[in-house]
Amino acid sequence: MKKQIISIILIAALYACSSGLPQLGKAPIDQVISSMTLEEKVRLVVGTGMAGFTGDSAVVGETKNLVPGAAGTTYPIPRLGIPAVVLADGPAGLRINPTREGDAATYYCTHFPIGTLLASTWNQELVEEVGKAIGNEALEYGADILLAPALNIHRNPLCGRNFEYYSEDPIISGKIAAAYVRGVQSNGVGTSIKHYAVNNQESNRMQVDARVSSRALREIYLKGFEITVKESAPWTVMSSYNYLNGVYTSESKELLTTLLRNEWDFNGMVMTDWFGGKDPIAQMQAGNDMLQPGTDKQYEAILQGVKDGTLDETILDRNVKRILEIILQTPRFKGYQYSNKPDLQAHAAVTRQSATEGMVLLKNNNQALPLTADVKKVALFGCTSYDFIAGGTGSGNVNRAYTVSLLDGLKNAGYELNEELKQLYEQHIINENKRNKPGDTNKMAMFLPLSRPTELLPSAETLREQVELSDIALITLGRTSGEFVDRTINDFNLRKEEYTLLQNVCKAFHAAGKKVIVVLNIGGVIETASWKDLPDAILCAWQAGQEGGNSVADVLSGKSSPSGKLTMTFPAKYTDDISSANFPTDGAMSSMDFGNPGEKKTEIKDWDYTNYEEDIYVGYRYFDTFNKQVSYPFGYGLSYTTFEYTNAAIKTENGIFTVSVDVKNTGPAAGKEIVQLYVTAPDAAGMNKPAKELKAFAKTRELKPGETATIHLTVKSYDLASYDEASSTWVTDAGKYTFLVGSSSRDIKATLQAEATASKEKTTDILKLQADIRRLKR
Ligand code: BGC
Repeated sequence: MKKQIISIILIAALYACSSGLPQLGKAPIDQVISSMTLEEKVRLVVGTGMAGFTGDSAVVGETKNLVPGAAGTTYPIPRLGIPAVVLADGPAGLRINPTREGDAATYYCTHFPIGTLLASTWNQELVEEVGKAIGNEALEYGADILLAPALNIHRNPLCGRNFEYYSEDPIISGKIAAAYVRGVQSNGVGTSIKHYAVNNQESNRMQVDARVSSRALREIYLKGFEITVKESAPWTVMSSYNYLNGVYTSESKELLTTLLRNEWDFNGMVMTDWFGGKDPIAQMQAGNDMLQPGTDKQYEAILQGVKDGTLDETILDRNVKRILEIILQTPRFKGYQYSNKPDLQAHAAVTRQSATEGMVLLKNNNQALPLTADVKKVALFGCTSYDFIAGGTGSGNVNRAYTVSLLDGLKNAGYELNEELKQLYEQHIINENKRNKPGDTNKMAMFLPLSRPTELLPSAETLREQVELSDIALITLGRTSGEFVDRTINDFNLRKEEYTLLQNVCKAFHAAGKKVIVVLNIGGVIETASWKDLPDAILCAWQAGQEGGNSVADVLSGKSSPSGKLTMTFPAKYTDDISSANFPTDGAMSSMDFGNPGEKKTEIKDWDYTNYEEDIYVGYRYFDTFNKQVSYPFGYGLSYTTFEYTNAAIKTENGIFTVSVDVKNTGPAAGKEIVQLYVTAPDAAGMNKPAKELKAFAKTRELKPGETATIHLTVKSYDLASYDEASSTWVTDAGKYTFLVGSSSRDIKATLQAEATASKEKTTDILKLQADIRRLKR
């Protein structure tokens, strides 16, 4: 059957060439478009459906076999030389099916560290390298566009997809995403930066209305996208599922055209998130060029719209052109012969090394870490130590060949692990997983996070034995999350059994003068304030990809020095986070009725709508401005060594501020330091401003003990601006700005001042426009 289809395509293509029809890439693009039938144009702006979803969204023809397990394809028109191109997830690596029917070969991909870990490296070159490796797998497995990176703001610690995202801060989000895009696209494959925009909760994700002021939009929620578009030219942008101030983002001309194209000069293609939005005509008009994965209903609506004049055909042509311009750049169009054999071994080394740089050492009393040479026998507690979590669930998951557990990572590093304890845990995990298995009736079960096993509480006797037999204790706490559902406060807090385990292990080991290390294998923030005094050291290892156990062992053993810092605040209590006043906490599942969003509702707070009442005061902007205590501040992270900051200076030239500072490694080990530059606006500034805002950052190269590096950080006058809603203008007030050079948001090493002159940049107020549209629709 497959062969027959391929022959038909070949014959059609040959016929096309010989019949003199304009061919994509040979004839001018407009000529190709004018040779397309209306039906072909509509087919092209609507994807070919999604395997596994029947009826409305059956896969058209042969394209589902191009790369099995890819999220979508575009519609091929062989007679005009237009191939189908393949779109595949995702942020932590390529997500395709690892096996194929009747094929003995395997198609595993590398599971790289999650987005949050990558951002915690604060290392743009490193993220670019990881992007290169991910993009290479996309290329070699036949994908044309990677559906990544994901850069929504961590507005609240409970968002189920925070693991895919980068930070509560837009500068980090934008810079890290731009580095990722550059890396992936250096392979000649595309990216789709997502989810544009304000997709900060999973609860009711396809219907929730995010209600946000234009200032918070511009300064917090859109800023990262602005930076990424301007600094890395992603091929495509993916609109988000949610409404924004009453309009679906995929139907918002203001977001997709006024801002993205007219203000930021984006010249690629926009696609929907899968089954996102409601009105295909409005989507076409807004500049949402392609609807993915595409349904027959959308096809019919657009076709009918053109026929009855509701949709101007020139708009359809414009969108078709943008899609064709992207297709022209793809490996598939260029006839790239992919190998299906990326160098998985080399990429395993990339993920193993990169992960160590994003791990954040939260506590290290009396240099408990790195483990000293006399530590040989490790007592390993916590179910997650034996069942390590590589990443989150849903489209951000990667079908990898293996995950190295902490147990195996430590063994590989030469540590001795207790066999009896291992057997006890392994049996317990098997029993717990049987209990936790979701019912088979849930067709989306594979997308949902499986409940973690309840912690095993070793008996007093087992603990006594372990203290006797081991040099040190290690406890891993794990959390997993993913699409469709947000985490709950219970998931944020430690469970009773986890707390008891920590207490019992610490008590028993400390009584014998032995240390206890906690490893956090988490995708999002958890509560740490109530228990952080118990262990000697805490390493936040995030979800470190398939080599996780090896990466953690590299850090624990001192082979690599941890150099990550937090890209979000760890609040003392969940309710300390100001956004908690307006965020769903009941863990309710979003509807899986794709393609049928239903009527817009406005009754239920934090479900039908969410008010972003905290406005621009997200994360540290809130905690630091209002002097709230936190468990660990934004930008925080320890090292195995120490650094001294000297000779901080600032110079101003043509409205560009350059801060330089010398960073010296004053401790015993080699290490890298992350230097953060915050700015405080003058008191007399016209607008309410946060106490400080991150404006630039850099990471040193690895410094040997005694070595010094000079860091230069630049900030433009435009970067100091705040968004004035009344005049729809970016305004930089004149006056004396304070530049704070910090090793975290709460550890400022040098304070400098410089004068800025006033400047303004007028924009279109997209909120006002949206309000007008709403009025018209009523
Ligand atoms: C996710 C996107 C993803 C798409 C395709 C959606 O459910 O929100 O991030 O790219 O599926 O798998």
